[in-house]
Amino acid sequence: MILPIYVYGQPVLRQEAEDIAPDYPNLKELVANMFETMDHADGVGLAAPQVGLPIRVVVIDLDVLSDDMPEFKDFKRAYINPHILETGDKVVSMDEGCLSLPGIHESVKRPDRIRVQYLDEEMKPHDEWVEGYLARVMQHEFDHLDGIMFIDHLSALRKQMIRGKLNNMVKGKARCSYKVKTVK
Ligand code: NI
Repeated sequence: MILPIYVYGQPVLRQEAEDIAPDYPNLKELVANMFETMDHADGVGLAAPQVGLPIRVVVIDLDVLSDDMPEFKDFKRAYINPHILETGDKVVSMDEGCLSLPGIHESVKRPDRIRVQYLDEEMKPHDEWVEGYLARVMQHEFDHLDGIMFIDHLSALRKQMIRGKLNNMVKGKARCSYKVKTVK
């Protein structure tokens, strides 16, 4: 089932999301719905707060990139209760967008590698270092679980430049091809 995507201005996007219990009801269904919602909106990552739920669940699908990056062939995973434990020292810039910020794309600086702890869909625990594009997407998505959006990483000047677009989103004037839920 395709869920509406919550857009900038929705308070849930600024909430600290909670870890879920292993017996969280209908988790498989939620994960399936999140994948469907993300695919429909042509996203590569989606965090539960973006569908209105303040819980630590993220889905990532990088298969679309596999023409250029074969390591991502059929890469489609859910991350339950993820937490970043450490980050590498090297910082890299990359363009980012977000389904909750339609029409905004900006270059964001982030560490190139992270150590991350999470449960997979089978509730099996993982603790691993991740680098490159996956580390980038994970940091963007896991930020959502702490109420952080990628625009928070921009300089004051860049933030000023997108102020008008953000104000329009809050007024319910988000223009995009997928179903959204705005404040107004
Ligand atoms: Ni996002």
